[in-house]
Amino acid sequence: MDTELSKNFFSCNDISIDLGGREILRNININIKPGEVLGIIGPNGAGKTSLIEILCGRYKQKTGDVIYKDKNINDKKLFERARMGIGRTYQTPVVPEDLTVGETLKAARQANKPYLPITDAEYAADLVKFTVDWDVENTKLETFNRRKLLMTSILMREPDIILMDEPASGLINAEIDEIDNTLRMLSKEMNIAVLIVEHRIELLETIADRVIVMDAGEIIAEGDLKDVIDNPKVKEAYFEG
Ligand SMILES: Nc1ncnc2c1ncn2[C@@H]1O[C@H](COP(=O)(O)OP(=O)(O)OP(=O)(O)O)[C@@H](O)[C@H]1O
Ligand SMILES: [Mg+2]
Repeated sequence: MDTELSKNFFSCNDISIDLGGREILRNININIKPGEVLGIIGPNGAGKTSLIEILCGRYKQKTGDVIYKDKNINDKKLFERARMGIGRTYQTPVVPEDLTVGETLKAARQANKPYLPITDAEYAADLVKFTVDWDVENTKLETFNRRKLLMTSILMREPDIILMDEPASGLINAEIDEIDNTLRMLSKEMNIAVLIVEHRIELLETIADRVIVMDAGEIIAEGDLKDVIDNPKVKEAYFEG
């Protein structure tokens, strides 16, 4: 599909949701372009994961629209959005317990209609430097390789946007540097839009083109990372809250 020609590549407007009888998100507006890395930061409980759940189609919002390539996708289910090119990763990298790496990648290929060839899986594994043997059991994988296995499963479908929920969580610094490089390559060389949720601000410093700060279900600041850090509202909510 032609991402270049879309006026509105990916956005949401006036998103709100109630969960457990409480309003968890209100009036959320975001917009991201192909090749852009948009960081979403905010303290625990700000609603970052809930927003991703709405954007990927797992939660249904109370108000508002999600727009992808100029079309309203409110009615599209999770798997439909995935097939349309919207990939997502989870805060905790849960892998199928009873499968090997190769079996998992095969299942991922077969989740696509038509089935993807094995070369697509090999290509995606290369992109994220996922080099473990394919007969290794998933349960033997460390956190970093679990994340790489899941990224491989997403990238073989050639997504146009990836929604990532704290991809650096549970990783050491050298691994985080590698993730940064991978995300830079995916966005800047492959023109994939990357929306990355993170609660440690410093992790976005090197990769985010722009950041949005959320607190208690609302967007409280948006712009350059350096500018938002200096914003008094952000200091109050984020650093002293
Ligand atoms: N399914 C649910 N039912 C009820 N409340 C929920 C549900 N999911 C999330 N919440 C509540 O919504 C609020 C926002 O949660 P969310 O997980 O979206 O925050 P977050 O910004 O991702 O936080 P963290 O940085 O800890 O991951 C929290 O108060 C949480 O308890
Ligand atoms: Mg979260």
